[in-house]
Formats: sequence, structure tokens, C-alpha cells
Amino acid sequence: MDTIIDDISGSTRVYGILGYPVGHSFSPVLQNTLASKTGINLRYLAFPVAPQDLGAAIKGGFALGVQGFNVTVPHKQAVIPFLCGIDPLAEQIGAVNTLKRTESGYIGYNTDILGLERAFALQNVELAGKNLVVLGAGGAAHAAVVLAQRAGAKKLYLVNRTLSKAEALAERIQIPVEVLSYDDLYRLEAPDILIQTTSVGMGRPEESPVADAELFRRVQVAMDLIYAPWQTKFLKDAAAAGCKDINGFDMLIYQGIASFELWNEMEVAPEKAAALRNLLEEYYRKGR
Ligand code: ATR
Repeated sequence: MDTIIDDISGSTRVYGILGYPVGHSFSPVLQNTLASKTGINLRYLAFPVAPQDLGAAIKGGFALGVQGFNVTVPHKQAVIPFLCGIDPLAEQIGAVNTLKRTESGYIGYNTDILGLERAFALQNVELAGKNLVVLGAGGAAHAAVVLAQRAGAKKLYLVNRTLSKAEALAERIQIPVEVLSYDDLYRLEAPDILIQTTSVGMGRPEESPVADAELFRRVQVAMDLIYAPWQTKFLKDAAAAGCKDINGFDMLIYQGIASFELWNEMEVAPEKAAALRNLLEEYYRKGR
């Protein structure tokens, strides 16, 4: 009855995620736990913003003193015109998932690529010199493709239902690249690593974009950016064929940690990040 609530004060900094829908986002739990663990006085909320309101939301957030945002589907590309600047890596990817406040507006960054890079590194998966297949050509595929280039992949195969989108994505990179249909995919001889970035299988444990699971017999590593279900059909088929299978949870956690570090101009020590990741995995999987 007479409890004083003083963990939010006049100097608490406000952050949030802009998406539509955004009610199922894991980012508030991740960011508020990070703030608590590091003793930083901030709060992070989910803001459902419809596409037609995105510009007003950015302007309003700036006027209210919001220090930064994450940006998720469907705003990662649409937000760019409302920014005062864009980091070169985010510009190369063509998508932004993190906004940091400056005096004149928000600058856009992409930490999805850093999360993906970290997820591979934690599993000791080396992209350099490898033949990579990216399934999908949306925002997440853009980050995967730029990472492949940055890491020195040998060749990229871009597979998408809508070929024109994969062709446009291929234009953005300088390493050898080939655009394939799903039918062509099964004819590939030696794809080392598959990265699954489509929404196929999300919340649907019986669906996979790879119809012929024989493909996995020729693959070493399969990464699915999805983490719900924890192991998609894509990953189950991959694991059954002897591939290393990696889901999207580490990418989710480490993109969030990278955003937090950017906003607060600090580094979360690797062992602290790993402990937090394990804590969040336990919490996340218990809730399912
Ligand atoms: P994100 O930003 O998360 O990558 P997106 O931009 O909406 O999301 O991209 C979704 C990707 O999933 C696209 O590559 C889409 O293929 P199209 O470009 O052909 O639309 C892919 N996708 C969605 N549903 C699919 C389905 N049923 N079969 C194959 N690909 C599908």
C-alpha cells in the first residue's frame, strides 16, 4: 500500500523498440536486464508504430528526449529517410536496426550484422573461403550478405522465391555471387554453409524452405535466424544429416548487446555477455 516506487526517476533515460507488431518482442526483457546488470539508469519499452506513423514517431521520440531506438520489421529500411545520418556499415547493408540520439536527430546503425558475426564466432564457424548459401532476400538477408563479404567468403549463392529481389541484393556486393531459384538450390555441389533468413518456419515447426533435405548431406553448417520454434524443421533436417545447426537466439542476444554498448558507449565483457545469454535462454525456454 505505502510502497515507494523510486527505481524510475527524473533522470531515467528512455529507449525503445519501434515495430509493427512489436508485442512479442524479446528486446524489452533483454535491454532492461542488461541495464539492471550494468547499473545504468534507463528503461526500454516496446512502441507499436504503424508504417504511416513512423516519421511522426521518430520526430516525437526526439522531442521527448528518447535516447535511442531499436527498429524492427517492417521499419528497418523505411526509417532511413527520417535519420540525420547513417553509419557506413548500415548504409552498405541498406537496413538499420539501431538509432542513437545526437544533437540534430538520430543516427542509424546496424547491429544485426554484429549479432550474426558473433553467433558464428561463438560456434567457431569461419566464413572465410567458404561457399555460402543465403535463403531469402529481405532485410536480414542483406546483413548476412554483407557479413559474408566482410568475412571473406569465397562465393555466395542467393536463393529467393522472388528472383528480382535476390538480383537486386547481388548488385550490392563485390564477391562472386550467383542468384538461384529453389529448384536450382538442390543441384548445388558443395555449399559449405546455409543461412536461412526467410520467415518460413517461424512459429510453424512443420515448415521449411528446403523441400529436399538431401541437400544437407553436402552442407557443414546450417544457420536459421529463427528462434521460435527453438529448432525449426530446417535445423532438425540439417542436424539429422550431420550438419552443425545454429538457431537465431545468439544473433538476437548479441545484436541487442551491441546496441546497448553503442548507446551507453561501453563494453559488456565477453564473460558477462555469455552469462546473460545463458540466463536469458533459460528464461526464454521456460516461458515456451
Ligand atoms: P526480413 O527483414 O526479416 O528479412 P522480409 O524483408 O519480409 O523480412 O523478407 C522475408 C523473406 O522471406 C523474403 O526473402 C521472402 O521471399 P520473397 O522476397 O519472395 O517474398 C521470404 N519468404 C516469405 N515467405 C516465403 C515463402 N512462403 N516461401 C519462400 N520464401 C518466403
